[in-house]
Amino acid sequence: MSPLFDICLLEELPPGEKRLVEVDDLEIGVFNCNGTLFAIEDRCSHDDGELVDGEFDTEDCTVECPRHGSRFDLRTGNPVNLPAYVPVDTFPVLVQDGVIRVEVD
Ligand code: FES
Repeated sequence: MSPLFDICLLEELPPGEKRLVEVDDLEIGVFNCNGTLFAIEDRCSHDDGELVDGEFDTEDCTVECPRHGSRFDLRTGNPVNLPAYVPVDTFPVLVQDGVIRVEVD
């Protein structure tokens, strides 16, 4: 099993909120989309835009890259529009004893 990293208490990241964390030299965005938690790499596959700074759409669980506007599906890491066409990494998220944890290889 991959190592788990504590992010924060679940109550500190309510629905509609996001936060940037650093885990093992990786910048990871953790998002609460309507009660479901997702974690994606905070680096756009197009030209390194910082995704956590982008607009978080809780209707379709996407985040829009602030640089050139590609939106990424938080569930899969796949871009849903150009110019990005390569997925970004996603990471499993779980909640144990009220603590959000992310699994990172
Ligand atoms: S850097 Fe993200 S769309 Fe260009």
